[in-house]
Amino acid sequence: MSVLLEARNLCKRYGAATVVDGVSFAIAPGECLGIIGPNGAGKTTTIRICLGLTAPDEGSVQFQPGDGAAPLAMPQDALAIKAQLGVVTQFDSLDPDFSCAENLRVFGRYFGLGGAVMDRRIPALLDFAALRAKADARPAELSGGMRRRLSLARALVNDPRLLLLDEPTTGLDPQARHLMWERLQQLLQQGKSILLTTHFMDEAERLCSRLLVLDHGRKIAEGAPRALIAEHLEREVVEAYGSGAPALAHDARLRPLAARVEVSGETVFFYTPDARPLLQALAERGHQHTLHRHANLEDLFLKLTGRQIREDA
Ligand SMILES: Nc1ncnc2c1ncn2[C@@H]1O[C@H](COP(=O)(O)OP(=O)(O)OP(=O)(O)O)[C@@H](O)[C@H]1O
Ligand SMILES: [Mg+2]
Repeated sequence: MSVLLEARNLCKRYGAATVVDGVSFAIAPGECLGIIGPNGAGKTTTIRICLGLTAPDEGSVQFQPGDGAAPLAMPQDALAIKAQLGVVTQFDSLDPDFSCAENLRVFGRYFGLGGAVMDRRIPALLDFAALRAKADARPAELSGGMRRRLSLARALVNDPRLLLLDEPTTGLDPQARHLMWERLQQLLQQGKSILLTTHFMDEAERLCSRLLVLDHGRKIAEGAPRALIAEHLEREVVEAYGSGAPALAHDARLRPLAARVEVSGETVFFYTPDARPLLQALAERGHQHTLHRHANLEDLFLKLTGRQIREDA
């Protein structure tokens, strides 16, 4: 596969803690690569290393500029690499004193883009962000979803080949997320590449052709979303919830009907290749509250990274 950005054996330590631990990956042109993992897994640190904002203790980041040119490497070619990257950080970093249009204009200057070019680009970017009517509004006057879209528009100012998006839809309502997804799909169709982190498994499955699962700084799985699910999980899931549900996990009749059983709070998850005998047994037992569905990426995430919230993250 041709490679746009390649990260090899990235390691980052803070004191005694190794927060990124031997992570390698490659991004192909036109691909959307997702990084998922619990809070504190090292996703933002990995992105910051790719951007040259955090110096790794070990490892390398290379960018292939295309046209047969020699590969660029961090940190010595940071400026040339950054000219081809667009970034949306985990927390918005818009300038509060400037309007939407001015935020785009100022950002253009960092890339040496001046008046005439930006006069053309700003209306197009505001249209793309569905913010034309807000051109003169300041970030504080925008909703969270509008601010995220402005951040995305700003990341596109230099027409980058690769976008690094750290939780681009966190805090957005379902409609705002769908609008963001549609825009990201448009960018992929234009041939741009995306590296994205997210805590939304439906988003990861919808947008990403490939996923890395990080946990405690280590890559614990990698692959296409559906392939990862098929590799790690039984096909079907029956959730039993409501009063008395946790006890079902130990029921001698139900237990053998599932390949794997997990309890989270008041819900029992039965994983099985075929849910019919289990559903029948639950009905005979008089348990009303069940949900039958296919195994999904959320199940994979919970299986690989555990169901407990991390106190150490
Ligand atoms: N500058 C720093 N100094 C010390 N520790 C840091 C620093 N930056 C990050 N860490 C630690 O590195 C670990 C990984 O942090 P990181 O922000 O990369 O996680 P994340 O996967 O992005 O988490 P989240 O999903 O919450 O955004 C955490 O334990 C964090 O406390
Ligand atoms: Mg983060």
